Amino acid sequence: MELTTDIFSLFDKKWALLTAGNKESFNSMTVSWGSLGTLWGKSVATVYVRTSRYTHEFMDREGFFTLSFFQESCRDKLLVLGTKSGRDMDKMNGSGLEAMDCAHGVTYREAELTLVCRKLYMDRLDPAKLEGELREKLYAHDAPHDMYIGEVTELIRP
Ligand SMILES: Cc1cc2nc3c(=O)[nH]c(=O)nc-3n(C[C@H](O)[C@H](O)[C@H](O)COP(=O)(O)O)c2cc1C
Repeated sequence: MELTTDIFSLFDKKWALLTAGNKESFNSMTVSWGSLGTLWGKSVATVYVRTSRYTHEFMDREGFFTLSFFQESCRDKLLVLGTKSGRDMDKMNGSGLEAMDCAHGVTYREAELTLVCRKLYMDRLDPAKLEGELREKLYAHDAPHDMYIGEVTELIRP
């Protein structure tokens, strides 16, 4: 498995779609917080999902999640999936992207790279332990983030 990319800009600049579920029932949301690295001797991807997101329900329920990365031409669709909730729109059919089955989950035909991740660990980030200015800015009026660490079991490129 080989990934050649600028990992520092992969999430922050490029964004990704985080998807959990199966073709019959899944949800995706845009993420720009995340990391890739090594933990417990495995290649892992970590994402951070506020407990208020609809996707959070799927992340808790499912054993796998996918992270899909797209070309710049898809950014408008990622913006919609990152500002509207699956509770209020039909994300499975109305995203303008073509969902497709992949090993253990769902990704999109337009994705230039998908990481298939097996959920290994989750924990809630405790706002009380965060430095004061960030705590105030990020958690004074919003739900906490749950951290999900997944083993990257497959890289899919078209
Ligand atoms: C560029 C961008 C990055 C985002 N990154 C995250 C993130 O890392 N974690 C998170 O919880 N929400 C993030 N969001 C917000 C969710 O994508 C957004 O609330 C989405 O509507 C949730 O959808 P859902 O309710 O269907 O899960 C981001 C939004 C945008 C536009």
